[in-house]
Amino acid sequence: MISLENVTFGYDGRAPLLQDLTVTLGERRIGVIGSNGSGKSTFARLLNGLLTPTAGRVTVDGLDTRTHGRDVRRRVGFVFQNPDSQIVFPIVEEDLAFGLKPLKLPPAEQEARITEVLARYDLQAYRQHPSHALSGGQKQLLALSGVLVMRPEYLILDEPTTLLDLRNRTRVARAIRDLPQTVIAVTHDLDLLHDFDRVLVFDGGQLILDAAPPEALAHYRALMTGEGETA
Ligand SMILES: Nc1ncnc2c1ncn2[C@@H]1O[C@H](COP(=O)(O)OP(=O)(O)OP(=O)(O)O)[C@@H](O)[C@H]1O
Ligand SMILES: [Mg+2]
Repeated sequence: MISLENVTFGYDGRAPLLQDLTVTLGERRIGVIGSNGSGKSTFARLLNGLLTPTAGRVTVDGLDTRTHGRDVRRRVGFVFQNPDSQIVFPIVEEDLAFGLKPLKLPPAEQEARITEVLARYDLQAYRQHPSHALSGGQKQLLALSGVLVMRPEYLILDEPTTLLDLRNRTRVARAIRDLPQTVIAVTHDLDLLHDFDRVLVFDGGQLILDAAPPEALAHYRALMTGEGETA
């Protein structure tokens, strides 16, 4: 369970973006939607301690992100909106191995995990390939793979499908559906959310609606397209 209690957050020297937000995230599939700049990525980064609140607190299974950052980050995997922020090693397999290092797995287990994840996203042929020379979508898949191999208990995915073709988008959607873990996905890809348990809608840093997908998506569509406005 991830809990935010009276969380306020502002970037340095700016007015607070999120104010006094209290929400508990316990369902297996939670979507986060909202306009550009509404605070979704900021919210996501607060969930694993990449950002810490200015006031209030965020806990993951009772661990405060401010005081237990390292434990929290081991439990909560995070896939960035921009895969270049995530891919750190020059060769694909090195990048995957890097994340596994702290887990100190037996070599055969490490190898099996890497092989499995590369196969799942058709990246086997790119194992020894320079990471920077992958296509945009392949980088997005590598960034996702780099977190999946660690098998964290929670997965925060910030726009996991933006660069993907239909086949890979479907693969990622299926992976999200089939993963045993809790997944919190920030996305503009609304179709991804139909079978989710819950969707949070942000606007101007505020959580304006917290509902089941049909209601949340309808509300968001109306908000974005101006339909339903009376003025
Ligand atoms: N590192 C930062 N320093 C200062 N301001 C920031 C920083 N990152 C984001 N912001 C500001 O915070 C606001 C919310 O940004 P955020 O990235 O959370 O939005 P978002 O909902 O994820 O948008 P998008 O859909 O475009 O990804 C924006 O006004 C943005 O300019
Ligand atoms: Mg964002």
